[in-house]
Amino acid sequence: MRDTIPSGVVEALRRAKSLVVLTGAGVSAESGIPTFRDAMEGLWAEYDPMELATPQAFARNPEMVSRWYDERRRDCALVKPNPGHYALARMEQCLVEKGGEFALLTQNVDRLHQAAGSRNVIELHGSIWEWRCRRCGMSREERGGTFGQYPPRCECGGIRRPGVVWFGEQLPPKAVRDSELALGTCDLFFSVGTSAVVQPAASFVHVARGHGAKTVEINREATAISKIVDWSILGKSGEVLPELVDRAFKE
Ligand code: OAD
Repeated sequence: MRDTIPSGVVEALRRAKSLVVLTGAGVSAESGIPTFRDAMEGLWAEYDPMELATPQAFARNPEMVSRWYDERRRDCALVKPNPGHYALARMEQCLVEKGGEFALLTQNVDRLHQAAGSRNVIELHGSIWEWRCRRCGMSREERGGTFGQYPPRCECGGIRRPGVVWFGEQLPPKAVRDSELALGTCDLFFSVGTSAVVQPAASFVHVARGHGAKTVEINREATAISKIVDWSILGKSGEVLPELVDRAFKE
């Protein structure tokens, strides 16, 4: 069961001049990639994030951590974008064709947005495809099969780590700057498929509201920001987004 889409949201999207969309794991869930905090099937329901998603965890056990991330990387290679990803790519295209601005700030590391055709994607938490040498800093996208050894080694002999942002680490400075720029000028902000608990993404809705942007949440269940946004739509992003884009931009 899902909410109907309020006509106010359709109108706001149709009129938007500068749109920012924040996405989380819920947008990739319908492609078959597990979320983190969903009660039953979330990754953090099964694994302890402090044992896997921190620099200390990697220092303690680089083989186990690199194997875990590489297994997720290979799982990502088996899935495709879903209708929610494609709807966001079409949303961007419609905005830009009208001379508007669009920025997609994602916490996801799977690059399914780019695979679906989204262009202005800001990766807040890096990418599981990129693996970076801790000694020389060389970072390379790895789309092949398993590594010969864990942790994988760089040509310089250094250890390579997944190019994702771990808890306690700084977000990529350019991603932070670009996000702040987009948030500072948007007139419409969407939060889609995120539990809105991890900073700084969880505060983006306040930045947008702070200068008068209208705010919308599309999520399968209520979150920490559901009572803050102007419209909270409960539903699956792969169903709500295509309907919303069709209604807002029908020829
Ligand atoms: P979470 O797992 O915390 O939240 C996913 C949200 O998506 C939940 O609120 C779900 O109810 C919702 N959801 C699930 N399926 C959905 C669907 N089909 N349509 C719409 N919503 C759906 O994932 P994130 O909020 O992305 O960071 O987590 C943020 C960060 O915490 C991640 O980037 C990761 C994680 O730990 C690090 O690992 C550093």
